[in-house]
Amino acid sequence: MDAKDVKRVLVVGAGTMGNGIAQVFARAGIEVGLVDVNEETLDRAKERIETGLKTLVEYGSVTEKEVAPILGRIETSTDLEAMAKGVDFALEAVVEVPDVKKEIFSRLEASCAEDTVLASNTSSLDIFNVVEVKNPKRLVGAHWFAPPHIIPLVEVAPGPETTQEVVDFTDGLMRRIGKETLVMKEFVPGFIVNRLQNAIAMPVLEMLAQGSASPEDIDRAVKLTLGIRLPIVGVVQTYDFTGLDLVHDIMKGIGMAHPVIDERVENGHLGAKTGKGIYDYGGRSEAEILNKRDKLYLQMVDHLSKIKALEPV
Ligand SMILES: NC(=O)c1ccc[n+]([C@@H]2O[C@H](COP(=O)([O-])OP(=O)(O)OC[C@H]3O[C@@H](n4cnc5c(N)ncnc54)[C@H](O)[C@@H]3O)[C@@H](O)[C@H]2O)c1
Repeated sequence: MDAKDVKRVLVVGAGTMGNGIAQVFARAGIEVGLVDVNEETLDRAKERIETGLKTLVEYGSVTEKEVAPILGRIETSTDLEAMAKGVDFALEAVVEVPDVKKEIFSRLEASCAEDTVLASNTSSLDIFNVVEVKNPKRLVGAHWFAPPHIIPLVEVAPGPETTQEVVDFTDGLMRRIGKETLVMKEFVPGFIVNRLQNAIAMPVLEMLAQGSASPEDIDRAVKLTLGIRLPIVGVVQTYDFTGLDLVHDIMKGIGMAHPVIDERVENGHLGAKTGKGIYDYGGRSEAEILNKRDKLYLQMVDHLSKIKALEPV
């Protein structure tokens, strides 16, 4: 099936992620069945969807007139089996508990049509090992970010047996509903972003536990440095600006020397200053590269000050 032909999808789990995901599909003109364990949770999900849409109307990205039709495309129910009928894509966004995921995928496999793509929004589980499905070819990772109706990216990742067709379909569907996608070559638990987030969790929690800095100070430090640089140079290109020779010395000093850096240093590829590092700067001079980067940084500093991003929300 082509992603452009999808008429109806199923979202299982109407919590933080599920309700926002349902809203995104509905906004793109696709009917959604939204399933959770009880009516109370579904009522709360509907309220959250309405609140989310209200914010979008206030911001000007949705019109008042569009709200009722969007809400009208979302059908809520506690009956997964009934809602699984006639859907082209089913996304699981239930609690991060292996046994619950297992149960949901067994039920989805039993009640969806044979060619319905089954996707998981898991943050950290190795979903392809956790769940047991008879046809793993149609199982795919599709990892959204909170709040799903605002954060642009969905990471898509195949398991060992997922077909290319299923990956392309999922990628196409996410793009059709307005998402940026990133298709990984293979699934790794946590995909890209949560792996990085997990890496910073322990030092943050340790500093908090030891009282080394207040929560506000840690966030202020991040916002005033990484918060400005990351949107411009990401995490990989940052190394090219630090200089791979310095990165090499730092990593060696902390007992973490790595061939990705060492090999480049040996070949004289030190980053922006040599025109090649992990990135290739296509013959541009260091001055040109720094000029471009610094103008972007300056705009970022201005913008963040203007919107008062340094204050806690
Ligand atoms: N919160 C985030 O920032 C975030 C981001 C990306 C991915 N995720 C992943 O998305 C999934 C959902 O996370 P969340 O933050 O929305 O959790 P949540 O706790 O807010 O919502 C989970 C929902 O699943 C429902 N549920 C539990 N068992 C169910 C069942 N048997 N059938 C139907 N519904 C059931 C719960 O009632 C709840 O409403 C998790 O796998 C999580 O790791 C979360």
